[in-house]
Amino acid sequence: MQAAATEHLITPARNIEGSLRLPGDKSISHRYALLGGFAAGTTRLTNFSTGADCASSLGCVAALGAGVTRDGATIEIAGTGGHFQPPAAPLDCGNSGSTMRMLSGLLAAQVADPPGSFTLIGDSSLSRRPMERIRKPLTAMGARIELTDSHAPIAIHGAPLTGIDYTTPVPSAQVKTALLFAGVQAEGRTLVREAVRTRDHGELALRAFGATIVRSLESVSIAGGQSLTGIEAEVPGDISSAAFFLCAAALFPGSNLIFDALGLNPTRATLLDVLTALGAHIGVLNLEEKHGELVGTVQVNAPPHGLTGTSIAGVLSAQLIDELPVLAAIGPYTQSGIRIRDAKELRVKESDRIALVAANLRAMGAEVVEFEDGLDVPGGQSLHGAIIDSGGDHRIAMAFSVAALRAQGDTLIRGSESAAISFPEFFDLLEGVVQR
Ligand code: S3P
Repeated sequence: MQAAATEHLITPARNIEGSLRLPGDKSISHRYALLGGFAAGTTRLTNFSTGADCASSLGCVAALGAGVTRDGATIEIAGTGGHFQPPAAPLDCGNSGSTMRMLSGLLAAQVADPPGSFTLIGDSSLSRRPMERIRKPLTAMGARIELTDSHAPIAIHGAPLTGIDYTTPVPSAQVKTALLFAGVQAEGRTLVREAVRTRDHGELALRAFGATIVRSLESVSIAGGQSLTGIEAEVPGDISSAAFFLCAAALFPGSNLIFDALGLNPTRATLLDVLTALGAHIGVLNLEEKHGELVGTVQVNAPPHGLTGTSIAGVLSAQLIDELPVLAAIGPYTQSGIRIRDAKELRVKESDRIALVAANLRAMGAEVVEFEDGLDVPGGQSLHGAIIDSGGDHRIAMAFSVAALRAQGDTLIRGSESAAISFPEFFDLLEGVVQR
């Protein structure tokens, strides 16, 4: 069910100060939910993502026979022991590409009983996103997968699978994870090679659930026929949600913001390097490892004379893919601007994020040049308040809420309800740390 459209007014801020403990990482929550549903035994999770996307993953495994009980951010999943039951209705992935692609990997090896197929559906945004990228390799492993004009709805006819050696044409952690989720059930070994090391939560989660994974610098492999067992875990705070607050704090000299128990997996923490390169002071302490995931306390202070500027391309663009909208949105406030290239994938996210970032920056009075694979956002600009069209995309709504904090005048974020896809608490937590 789609939430009713709402608007949110952001008035400019004077400073950002406070401390935050953020809801669980979306990428990790998805993987723990899906594997918890698939594994044998019980999985107990705390600080599970409060976003609607991860609720879609839970809903799907429940529909496939897992026992799911939820009390806020505390989740208990009674796993199916590797055997999903035929669901009574199509599996609704909502807005969540992660649910659709990674669950497809698990389902590719599930022979429906009685014979039939698993159908996956999504909302209008998800139904426009590319799914050929999972169909091709999962088909090569032996599953039969029917798309609708390269998109969802997807019908998966699971089959006994054979491992493959596959190089992902576009760096994608979702595709890599889908193949590992299929590979753990296949005959023989599945090897996934990637040109850019994408987030490795899938590998770490499989290990946590008891699988053996072999990793090298540019590939990961898993032997088939391994069974998984439920875990107990506290999900680290979501660094991609923290990104909005980190960027907001970086804009205000005198700011001081602290995050406790934040996920700091190196494949996700590139934003901290970029903010440091822009001149912000980032401190990290209390580092711990939980189920292979690094967790720690992060402190951010803005530089006294403003952020410099930077160019993001190549490997960096792939690693920062979810943080690029907010980095572009603060670009005008930097000294020499933010240049983004090699980020064509932004066009096939929940929205065309390159087009929406450019349109909304222009609405706020900024100069910006749009490229097929990125943006040039010149620095040294001042913006005015405007009406922002989030396009129903959570990261656009939150990115422009951050830009609005430094604008002249108020900004109205249209489609602000979309923040709840990953971060329902966003506007409340923002108000808690903003000084006016
Ligand atoms: C994700 C991978 C990325 C990212 C998405 C979450 C994941 O997508 O943009 O928000 O959890 O694996 P791609 O795999 O399509 O790059």
